[in-house]
Amino acid sequence: MAFLLTSISCVTLLICACYYWIMRRYSYWKNKGIASPKPSIPFGNIRNTVLGAKQIGVDFSDIYNNNKTEDYVGVYMVLKPTLVINNLDLIKTALTKDFVHFSDHGLPFDEEAEPISGHLFNVGGAKWKNLRAKLTPTFTSSRMRSMFDVVHDCAAEVAKHLDQCTEDDLDVKEILATFGNDVIASCAFGVELNTFKNPDDKFRKMGRRIFKQSPLEEIVNVFDFFLPNVITKFKPMILGREVEEFFYSIVEQTVNFREKNGIVRNDFMQLLIQLKNTGSISEEGVDKSEAPPDDGTRLTMMQLAAQVFVFFIAGFETSSTTASFALYELALNPDVQKTLTDEIDDILAKHDGKITYDSLGEMTYLTKVIEETLRKYPPLPVLFRICTKDYILPDTNIKIEKDTPVMIPVYGIQRDPDIYPNPNKFDPERFTPENKAARHHFAYLPFGEGPRICIGSRFGMMQTKLGLATFLSKYEVSVCDKTLIPMEYDKRSFVLTSNGGLWLKLKRRSK
Ligand code: HEM
Repeated sequence: MAFLLTSISCVTLLICACYYWIMRRYSYWKNKGIASPKPSIPFGNIRNTVLGAKQIGVDFSDIYNNNKTEDYVGVYMVLKPTLVINNLDLIKTALTKDFVHFSDHGLPFDEEAEPISGHLFNVGGAKWKNLRAKLTPTFTSSRMRSMFDVVHDCAAEVAKHLDQCTEDDLDVKEILATFGNDVIASCAFGVELNTFKNPDDKFRKMGRRIFKQSPLEEIVNVFDFFLPNVITKFKPMILGREVEEFFYSIVEQTVNFREKNGIVRNDFMQLLIQLKNTGSISEEGVDKSEAPPDDGTRLTMMQLAAQVFVFFIAGFETSSTTASFALYELALNPDVQKTLTDEIDDILAKHDGKITYDSLGEMTYLTKVIEETLRKYPPLPVLFRICTKDYILPDTNIKIEKDTPVMIPVYGIQRDPDIYPNPNKFDPERFTPENKAARHHFAYLPFGEGPRICIGSRFGMMQTKLGLATFLSKYEVSVCDKTLIPMEYDKRSFVLTSNGGLWLKLKRRSK
């Protein structure tokens, strides 16, 4: 009996101590004088995200909407104090002028344990700066123009596939994901896949594994977020290295094959091979076959593979969900679809019916449709940074401590009726030059902003435009019984995507 009483007292004491510790933790923002919505034990302010009740972008959008009068609020991601910035001027300052204080994404990774994780999105500080400077010439407009044909060939396979389809109702998300997979496999990995013919291709399967996490991966990633220095090291041991080894071996084989056989192609892989052999990318047309001595700036094969890998993870799903959300909105808004297909028909008629880099450039309404899609459905619905150096909030003496995560509620801002009247209406005219100029520049952040803005935005736009123009030059879309109305998001996915497929009715256009 005495033992039982002692045990109960100990457990009660432990619970009280934990409760006291958590409550002290939850007064972090109050003590700093920063407004903070009430957290609840144990998930703080992101209960809905952790329990899968809301997509993370929607959860942070609620925080934004409930605290709009505040320039910033302090929340708790479970126990971690996190700053949410609502004010557009302050967002601008953090992402640009005071970038040195918020230069990193702050995702947990361990390059030694998992070398392929040492890529541009993850690395920080001086390492990021050097790598970013090296990779930037890969994405100039002239490089995009030279890669156009490779993307065009993949779009031609989509067209062939659609021509052979016998059903009327199709999952456009799957079709565009297959297109996106082939584009990035071709441009980044240098391999031609044609996944429409081989839907069970290992590359596609591995791609699916990255974006569809198993329950074990979800659990490990949650722990990794809260105990980064402990879990990150052991992650590869717990989850295996199959994905890393698969992608590394493709890169190694392709590089060796090209170098052995003197093959040169207009793609990212070729530019990365230059970075491996010479440490920089030559100006276009300049032969750099004479490699200078290694001054330590060349990429190793593993660093090259890591960059190819990030082009895949950062470029594939973002571009393909954008194109599928655009088709979804066009099916719901036939008048917008008609204006767009009229534009595509007119411009193609002037270019011999061919979709070229130049004809695509003339499709300005198509650009507006994609911009409006990215407003309603930003693939990264929150931007995140970590405070890399103590920071005093402007016009205050409040210090944001190093290592504090910072979130920018992009989805909330881009659906704010005070910024975008009637925000759920799909209206590409919001993106006329005049309307754009009338808005705060930082009220539109689908690609992020500042020095860490998406490096692949031009490529993403080109791929999305080409996919949509190819699709809509031949087909019209409308809603069918399986179309999700209203839209439902996959609540477990960080990238904003529909819950399940995106089904639409397809009909060959009569011209
Ligand atoms: C519609 C398509 C795309 C969207 C909406 C998108 C969006 C974004 C966003 C929001 C970020 C974070 C920016 C920030 O933190 O401020 C980002 C970073 C990045 N994106 Fe994209 N992206 C797209 C396509 C691509 C493509 C096609 C590639 C590569 C081929 C790519 C490669 C990257 C990389 C490497 C980063 C990290 C940049 C850095 O940290 O310096 N993205 N993207």
